[in-house]
Amino acid sequence: MTSSISSNILVVEDLSLSLKSGKTVLPIITNVSFSVSKGESVALVGESGCGKSITASAILGLPPENAVVTGSIWLNGIEISKLDKQGRRKLCGQKIGFIFQEPMTALHPTLTIGRQLTDTLRLHLGLSKRAAMDRAAELLDRVGIPRPREILKGYVHELSGGMRQRVMIALAISCGPELVIADEPTTALDVTIQAQVLDLLDEMRAELGLAMVFITHDLEVVGDHCDRAVVMYAGDVIEYGSSQDVVSSPSHPYTVGLIDATPANNEDRDRLVPIPGTVPPVGHWPSGCRFAPRCSLSDDHCRSRPEFMKANVTDIRCWHPDGRVSQ
Ligand SMILES: Nc1ncnc2c1ncn2[C@@H]1O[C@H](COP(=O)(O)OP(=O)(O)OP(=O)(O)O)[C@@H](O)[C@H]1O
Ligand SMILES: [Mg+2]
Repeated sequence: MTSSISSNILVVEDLSLSLKSGKTVLPIITNVSFSVSKGESVALVGESGCGKSITASAILGLPPENAVVTGSIWLNGIEISKLDKQGRRKLCGQKIGFIFQEPMTALHPTLTIGRQLTDTLRLHLGLSKRAAMDRAAELLDRVGIPRPREILKGYVHELSGGMRQRVMIALAISCGPELVIADEPTTALDVTIQAQVLDLLDEMRAELGLAMVFITHDLEVVGDHCDRAVVMYAGDVIEYGSSQDVVSSPSHPYTVGLIDATPANNEDRDRLVPIPGTVPPVGHWPSGCRFAPRCSLSDDHCRSRPEFMKANVTDIRCWHPDGRVSQ
């Protein structure tokens, strides 16, 4: 493990998170493992409720209060999961940038944009007021915001959705992070603005050598903007490989189902095939493969715990990789 830790910015190893309520302990994610190297974008993909955002919260060290987290998280060679709260907050605040789906929930409505950016810059980089304001203007300019000095004096509600997301990106990269986690950063935007923001994130990643965790349920975005993909289902990683392989030749029946249900992959939209059923809610996962009740290939083997195995060039948690009916 040590060699992969040193060549990666982020290594997540066997990360599990459960929520405690009285005497009940409810598993939310189990044994999630993946890594992200410098300049690489890794997608966390899966239907709603699969555990993508909660995985991000555990990496950031900001899980729900009643969470029990196990496993290891390494950031550029430092095992951040072993740091105390204060050490973790200090390191992650500077080294990890976070971009939310809806900037209005992350940006303060009654503080000027300038104040929010300069507070962060002064706290983490120790800049003077004037130097922080100069740096804030540079950052806004860099993310494509016109008249940055003027915008710094304004408030977030005065901006369009796309501009707000640019401010969020400026804030995320302001302290020179090594890792940026973007949780559905373009879902709330219209298609044209979505494309601009995705291109900006690609540019920032290349220019600053950022490692990026990109949370999305859009497989088209995964194929176009991410190097590797971690497919999650009911708190579990079920397929992990290059996005090219995962999107163009998926191996797990769940990933195949997701691709078949994606409009961009089907010229004939009348033939879109939705996956039958829904993701089982936490607390109601079946034993063995959690996808088995929705899978046309499932059999007795699937009720035992599937191990990761190789199918094509991806890792996959399935007894029937590539649609094989028997082993
Ligand atoms: N604070 C919490 N208390 C109780 N359950 C929670 C909490 N946070 C998340 N969950 C549950 O954990 C599961 C995973 O949630 P998570 O938000 O990570 O899903 P997601 O994959 O990000 O979904 P989406 O695509 O809708 O954002 C869900 O079933 C959710 O209801
Ligand atoms: Mg989410």
